[in-house]
Amino acid sequence: MKSLNLLVIAFLAITSCFAVDKNNFKSCDQSGFCKRLRPFKPEISQYVANLTTTSIFGNMLFLDVNTVDRESEKKTVLFRYVLKISSLVDNTFRVEMEESNPLYPRYVTQLALEDTPIGDEGLKKISSKDGKLVVANHNGLQVVITADPLKIEFLDKNGEVAVVLNENSQLLVEPLVAKHAKLNENGEEIPVEDGTWGENFKSHHDSKPRGNEAISLDIGFPDADNVYGIPEHTDKLALTTTTSGEPYRLFNLDVFEYELDSRMSIYGSVPVLYAHGTKRTVGVFWHNSAETWVDVVNIADGTVVSSLVNLVTGGNKRRVDTRFMSEAGMVDVFVMMGDTPSDVFRQYTTLTGVAPLPPIHIILIYRGGHIIRNSPHVGWIV
Ligand SMILES: *[C@@H]1O[C@H](CO)[C@@H](O)[C@H](O)[C@H]1NC(C)=O
Repeated sequence: MKSLNLLVIAFLAITSCFAVDKNNFKSCDQSGFCKRLRPFKPEISQYVANLTTTSIFGNMLFLDVNTVDRESEKKTVLFRYVLKISSLVDNTFRVEMEESNPLYPRYVTQLALEDTPIGDEGLKKISSKDGKLVVANHNGLQVVITADPLKIEFLDKNGEVAVVLNENSQLLVEPLVAKHAKLNENGEEIPVEDGTWGENFKSHHDSKPRGNEAISLDIGFPDADNVYGIPEHTDKLALTTTTSGEPYRLFNLDVFEYELDSRMSIYGSVPVLYAHGTKRTVGVFWHNSAETWVDVVNIADGTVVSSLVNLVTGGNKRRVDTRFMSEAGMVDVFVMMGDTPSDVFRQYTTLTGVAPLPPIHIILIYRGGHIIRNSPHVGWIV
């Protein structure tokens, strides 16, 4: 018996030294903004569009969006934002939102786009009534903006909703606040939430001089059977429902002995996601370079028994909901309307370019990683 125990211990020791040490990598709970944002599921979104402020210039639409205090009778305005929707060439739309008068400029992602995206011929107003504004690109693809609460729907060529933003009320732009201590009426400091002005993970300290500045948005795909993308993870090709467990993490890391079928981040991260079903293939590119976590709910996965999802889908059996949470930056998302897989890949590479091949003379060194020591060694292998 004793020797068997020893054998078991030896086996455990061997297997554990071939597994990733998860303590070295943040879980959602250890990542301040993910912990704050993941439970954020208000019954009704605070964001309301003021459709009387709508202005359209060529391919761009601007309108004011406010957050309102739902508790107050008069719906007191809390914070003011500007929403911009651009129609781009090749049936692509871009949605951007930021504070009207930000305390600090929010970080604008650099370098990810190959060039300034090219505008479509124009955005045409179709109608504005009953709190809904409908516009269309020059191919007739419509965008429906519902004012209260704010919801943005992108319709396919048959007029069916293909992509919808903020239907699950998870749009959130954390208000930027000044660091001076706030005092109550007795002149005492009002305590701020732990971690607002700095966070620690193991020996690492994140100073956060601007406090919390995270953003979140839910993106739904009616009629989709599966969503793919947001590389790089070792999980299944079709992304899995994350309600029981961690969201997918996007944060470039060098992970020793990474494990398979995991949503942990590894070497690369590309926030592009494709939704595929029998009706169409569409995609979204979340233009943000900060640490990002993505939740996925596929209603075809039997494990999902959420009345909210049933409410939204109206009993449909096919739909995938996703939700992006980023530590900083602006709400900036490209919606690629497909409608075939190759259309979406073309639309995406039009935005970001294609991956370059490395020069042929370095391919072996590149492939070999740290196992190949120098160029004579390469010559020897060749
Ligand atoms: C909506 O916009 C109009 C025109 O700018 C303005 O008069 C009105 O006060 C705005 N409403 C809210 C709630 O901000």
